[in-house]
Order: sequence, then structure tokens, then C-alpha cells
Amino acid sequence: MEKNISCRYMQVKDHDEVRELLAGNRLPTDRVNAGNTIMLVAEQGGRIIGCGGIDPIGESGILQSLVVNKKNRSRGCGSLLVDRLISVAALHALRELFLLTVSGRDFFHKLGFSPIGGETIPSQVRQTVAWKNPDCAAATSMHLDITRQARYFPQETLRLRDDLPGVQLWAVSLQKTMLTYFTVDANSSFPQHSHESEQITMVLSGALYFTVHGDTRKVGKGEVIALPADVEHAVFTLDEKATAVDAWSPVMKRYQ
Ligand SMILES: CC(C)(COP(=O)(O)OP(=O)(O)OC[C@H]1O[C@@H](n2cnc3c(N)ncnc32)[C@H](O)[C@@H]1OP(=O)(O)O)[C@@H](O)C(=O)NCCC(=O)NCCS
Repeated sequence: MEKNISCRYMQVKDHDEVRELLAGNRLPTDRVNAGNTIMLVAEQGGRIIGCGGIDPIGESGILQSLVVNKKNRSRGCGSLLVDRLISVAALHALRELFLLTVSGRDFFHKLGFSPIGGETIPSQVRQTVAWKNPDCAAATSMHLDITRQARYFPQETLRLRDDLPGVQLWAVSLQKTMLTYFTVDANSSFPQHSHESEQITMVLSGALYFTVHGDTRKVGKGEVIALPADVEHAVFTLDEKATAVDAWSPVMKRYQ
């Protein structure tokens, strides 16, 4: 694969270029603005050369709008986009991916997808526009179980999202275990709470202050605090931003 191809989440400034790419390959452009679709773009030399998206439906995702500019094909860009889309699906706690393809069956098969019979596709997937389209009769439905794969999450897939005021996070989870990364602005707080998940937090920079049973402990850079299930605690920062990673078991559904 060419080394200088990279992937990132699509931004609003990319919409026109992505629409042009899709339309130029006779693919629908309506997903570009659809709030639900998670779109990635592939770039080379600052230009968008490919794109692809996932529509989450419950715990399933539909991979769609995958296209690589004609003159940039067969250099690994399509495979890279699919690999990153699978990571993004895992980050959104999806368990399986479906797609419909007319000519890409062998391409997707190489990437781990298998043809699947219509009757085994969940009804909420079959109810979508793609599967209801009469042209679908000529296409192959394909499926990938993403819960059984080891998965790599490059930096560009780990997008921070807002949580409480002043708090941002990303989360990676398997079936029983979760890892989160938090940035907590200065003078921010998590009110008193508890959860059934066990929590082990390591502070990477700054300091977090944990209050447990009325006792407040400073957890500084490189230090760790372990909280058993259901222990009430509150957390805050003082005049310095903090970053931390946390291990959780079972997974914290609220962070998925
Ligand atoms: C399918 C597509 C995204 C692949 O992109 P790409 O950047 O060329 O893919 P890669 O370079 O990672 O992989 C190319 C490999 O897949 C094969 N391949 C690509 N498209 C294929 C297809 N339609 N059917 C079978 N094999 C295909 C190539 O021959 C190549 O094989 P090789 O590595 O043994 O030479 C691209 O061909 C495309 O945009 N097609 C038009 C849109 C489309 O069909 N999208 C899929 C809709 S579901």
C-alpha cells in the first residue's frame, strides 16, 4: 500500500468534494449530510481521493458510500478505508457490519466479509432504503462479525467527544472490558456517583481529586486509583487540566 494515504473523519468543509466523488461514481450523495452516517475520507497530498461511511442501526452498521477516485485505485486506499471504518464501527459499540455490493464481492471477501442470505439479515437492516431498492436483487449482501476480531485504533479514529461540562472522552470496549481516555479541564467536576463497573484510573497529566467516604485524595501524574463496584465517589480538578485513562469492567454503557 502507498504510505502517504491517510484517513480522517469527514468535516463540513469536505462535503462538496465528497459529493462530487460519489456522484462521479454514480453513487447516491444523500448520506453526506445525513446526521446518522459516520463518514471517513482518505487523503493523499491534501486531496480527498476516497470516502466511505457507516450507518449505525442498533448494534448493526451498514457500510456504504465506499469509493476511491478512479486514478487512485489498486493502491490500498479502499482496503484502508474499510479497515478504519471497521474500527469506527467498533468505537460505536456495533457488533456487526452489513453491506450490499454489485461488483465488489471479491474485494470485500478479502477483507473478511462473507456473503449472507437475505433471511438471516436483521429486519431493521432489510427495512433500509438500500435493501428495499429494486436494484438490490442484483447485489450480494455481505456480513462481518466485528466482535471476534483483534482491532487496531490509530490516533485519527479516536475522536474526543463531549461528556460533562469541561470533560471530553473516547472509549474503546470489548464485550467485558472498556478503556477510556479523559481530558478534564481545570475546575471541572464529576458529581458524587457510583456504578456497578469496577474502575481503575491512571492519571497521565495534571491531577484528579477523588472524594470517597468524605476523604479526598490527590491522584497525580503516573498515579493510580482503583474503585471497586458500587463505591460512591466524586472527582474534580483544581487549577490544572488533567488527562487520564480508565479501565472498566463490565463496560460502562454510558461511555459506549
Ligand atoms: C471497490 C473500491 C473502493 C476498491 O478501492 P481500491 O483503492 O482500488 O482498493 P484496494 O487498492 O485497497 O484493493 C484493491 C484490490 O481489490 C481488487 N478490487 C477492487 N475493486 C474490485 C472489485 N469491484 N471486484 C473485485 N476486486 C476488486 C483489486 O483488483 C485489488 O486487488 P489486488 O490487491 O489483488 O490487486 C474501488 O474499486 C471503487 O471505488 N469502486 C467503485 C465503487 C464501488 O464499487 N464501491 C463499492 C460499493 S459497495
